Amino acid sequence: MATRLDGKALAAKRKAELACEVEKLNRKPGLAVILVGEDPASRVYVTSKRKDCEECGYYSEEYALPAETLEGELLGLIEELGRRENIHGILVQLPLPKGLDEKKILAAIPPEKDVDGFHAVNMGRLILGEEGFLPCTPAGVMELLDEYHIELEGKHCVVVGRSNIVGKPMALLLLQRNATVTVCHSRTKDLASFCRQADVLVAAVGKTGLITPDMVKEGAVVVDVAMNRNAEGKLCGDCEPTVYEKVSSYTPVPGGVGPMTRALLMENTMKACRMQGK
Ligand code: GUN
Repeated sequence: MATRLDGKALAAKRKAELACEVEKLNRKPGLAVILVGEDPASRVYVTSKRKDCEECGYYSEEYALPAETLEGELLGLIEELGRRENIHGILVQLPLPKGLDEKKILAAIPPEKDVDGFHAVNMGRLILGEEGFLPCTPAGVMELLDEYHIELEGKHCVVVGRSNIVGKPMALLLLQRNATVTVCHSRTKDLASFCRQADVLVAAVGKTGLITPDMVKEGAVVVDVAMNRNAEGKLCGDCEPTVYEKVSSYTPVPGGVGPMTRALLMENTMKACRMQGK
């Protein structure tokens, strides 16, 4: 029987630890979340972030702005939040509506408040192996793999997906642990042949049923980062559930990587609060 890597349980544990840490601080970590437009999935994410803040005893502010918001207005808000002492982390929910330049907006977040780890400075620190904020999803995957003592050194890790948010930073974090890393993407020829070589397979594409059992090595570890909806509207990952019968461990969807992403945002916000010392 394969081990189910229980992200929901580990995230709950982490959040409880953070709530204890807050009690010992003389201030509350503060997170500002900015949502522009009406994307329903983003709305759900933003609401969960507020709940996570409540659970951890953090201070939070939410800004729900109309899709027509001008770039200058959004930049002005980020600048103001950047100056605020009780706001330690600023998160702009992605994707942004058309007409807003994502690069420019993310660059406006002060790197020390960039709890998403998307700013070029934090991305650069990740590449250099320097201390900074790590993007929450790949950092959450690493914590989950560590919790279950999954060895990475010398292992062949195959990351499917090359997004700035997940695939690229995931590959770098695995590389830092001395894994041999292959990154596959939409132009990869014969994806299955790469996946079959993986000791650890990370699927981060967002395509239901992409990974089938014939693409997975017997006894591999499978991490499914995707949050797709199937034809019945049920949450599912990139892996067909029959993949789980072949592997040694896997992250379920839901209840695997998703809750860890949220816990890592809380960890990053705590780190930001400690670093800012006010
Ligand atoms: N959209 C999808 N995932 C994320 C995330 O981790 N952070 C932000 N800001 N937007 C997202």
